[in-house]
Amino acid sequence: MATWLDEQWKSGDPAIDAEHQKLHQMISSMSAVIRNDPGLGLAIEAVDVLTERIRIHFRMEEGLAARLNAAAAEQLKLDHQRLLRLLTPLYDALRRGSAEQAKLLLSDFLSQLDAHDREMDIPLFQK
Ligand SMILES: [Fe+2]
Ligand SMILES: [Fe+2]
Repeated sequence: MATWLDEQWKSGDPAIDAEHQKLHQMISSMSAVIRNDPGLGLAIEAVDVLTERIRIHFRMEEGLAARLNAAAAEQLKLDHQRLLRLLTPLYDALRRGSAEQAKLLLSDFLSQLDAHDREMDIPLFQK
């Protein structure tokens, strides 16, 4: 989660780094809503908002990657799809009212996104 806030993980492209910082600020606030929803249905709305924001981010990266390296762009896209699929069980857990399960699924998603950032985004977009 903190990958892009850490100096050593900057890609060196100011636009990419700024976009990731904004994305992760948004992820932090939506995660707080998901973890602290007192049962008002806010968590479900937060997952919807989060999913849309992440989709926009992934589309932007895929467009950029396609111009840099076609093979790597294909791998990037597959990993983005895999990450998006992790949000479905989170959404389902919230719909069922399984708040504890949802928190576990959220932490798993966040650590997998973090690994994606370090292993795919940064090497690909590094300047
Ligand atoms: Fe990214
Ligand atoms: Fe990415």
